[in-house]
Amino acid sequence: MRDVAVIGVGNTKFGELWEYSLRDLFVEAALKALDDAGVDMIDSIYVGTMSSGMFVDQEHIGALVADYVGKKHVPALRVESACASGGFAFRQGLIEVAGGFSDIVLVGGVEKMTDTEDATFALSSAADQDNESYFGATFPALYAMIARAHMHKYGTTRDQLAAVSVKNHNNGSLNPDAQFGRKITIEAVKKSVMVAEPLTILDCSPVTDGAACAVICPLEMAGKFKKKPIKVIGTGVATDTIALHSREDITTLKAVQLSADRAYQMAGKKPGDIDLAEVHDCFTIAEIVVTEELGFAEKGKGGLLVEEGKTALDGEIPINTSGGLKSKGHPVGATGIAQVAEIVRQLRGEAGERQIDNPKVGLTQNMGGSGASSVTHIFEVV
Ligand code: COA
Repeated sequence: MRDVAVIGVGNTKFGELWEYSLRDLFVEAALKALDDAGVDMIDSIYVGTMSSGMFVDQEHIGALVADYVGKKHVPALRVESACASGGFAFRQGLIEVAGGFSDIVLVGGVEKMTDTEDATFALSSAADQDNESYFGATFPALYAMIARAHMHKYGTTRDQLAAVSVKNHNNGSLNPDAQFGRKITIEAVKKSVMVAEPLTILDCSPVTDGAACAVICPLEMAGKFKKKPIKVIGTGVATDTIALHSREDITTLKAVQLSADRAYQMAGKKPGDIDLAEVHDCFTIAEIVVTEELGFAEKGKGGLLVEEGKTALDGEIPINTSGGLKSKGHPVGATGIAQVAEIVRQLRGEAGERQIDNPKVGLTQNMGGSGASSVTHIFEVV
C-alpha cells in the first residue's frame, strides 16, 4: 500500500446560489483544486452526491462532471452514502491511489439543494422509509429525539446545545465562503423559531448549494507540486442500523466511534494527539455526541466540552474552525470534502483569520443520516 497525500483543495462559496447549476458548482470547485495543486492531468474522479436525482433530476453524475471538467474519457464514479457521500468519495479515491491503480485522483462532492421545494422530503429518503419517514420523522425530529435522550441521561442543557451553534457561527464569521457567516448569541438560538423540540432553526444546519474538491496522489510524487503536501495517515468507516429505534442506546453513535477507532488505529494516534477536527454538526446535539465518540470528551460530557470553551478556536481542541455545517452550510454530498479542505488549509497555515496556532494533526468526521454511516480521516503535516 502506498502513502497518499492531498496536494490541492478548492470549493465554491456555500449558500443559496441561484446563478449556479449543479455542474457549474462542481466545475468551479474542481478547477480551483487542480489550480491549487498545479496539476492538469488526472487519472480518475470520484464524486459524492447524496440525491442529485431528487434535488435537480440529474443522475449519472460521474460522467457528467468528467465531461464538464474537461476530462471526458477518464474513469469517473459517483459515491453515495447520504450526507457522508463526500467523505466516502474521498476514501474511494484514497484506496485507488494507495492500491497503485491511479496516481492523480480528483475527489469531490456536490449538492444543489435549493432548487427543489421539498428538500426535507429528499433528505428523509436517507432515513428508514418504512419505519421512520413514512410516519413523518424528519432529520430534525430524529436528532431532537437524540437530544432529549442525551439531556435526560446525562443532564446536557439547552444552553450547551446553543453553545455549539454560537461557536460555529463565530468561526463561520471568519470564513468568507460560509452561508450564514454572522455571529449569534445563546439567547438568539433559544428564541429562534422551533423546528423540532428542543431544536430551533439555529440548532439546525441549513439547506445549501455548494461543491468542494481535493486532489490526491502518492506521497512520493507529492513534492513536485505547488503546495506543501498533507499526508493522509488514517481512514476508517463503519455503519449502524439505519433506524434509530433499532439501536440499544440512541445517545451513542456507534458508527462514529467505530470509524474513529479504525482511523486512530491505522494512524497510530490517540484522541489527545489531534490538534483540530471538522465534525458532522448537522444539528447541535450531533456535535456534542460526536465529540464524545471521537474521544475528545468522556461519554456524557460533550456539552461541558463546548460550554467550557475547549472546542473554541483558541481552545484545547478546536472543532469546526470552518464554521461547520451549521454556519458554513451543508450541501450534503459536498460536506465531507469541504471538511478535508478546511483541515488541509489549517495544516498548511492558510486558513486566514480563523487559522489556529501551528497544527500538525487534523481529523475529519462525516456521517450519513442519523449516524447509520460514518467516515473518519486523519491528516498530518509531512
Ligand atoms: N440557520 C440559520 N438561518 C437559517 C437556517 C439555518 N439552518 N435555515 C434557514 N435560515 C434562515 C433563512 O435564510 C431565512 O432568512 P430570511 O428570512 O432572513 O431570508 C429564514 O431563516 C427562513 O428560511 P427558510 O428557508 O424559509 O427556512 P425553512 O423553515 O424552510 O428551513 C430548516 C429551515 C431548519 C427546516 C431547514 O434549514 C432544514 O431542514 N435544515 C436541516 C437540513 C437537514 O436535515 N440536513 C441533513 C442533516 S442529517
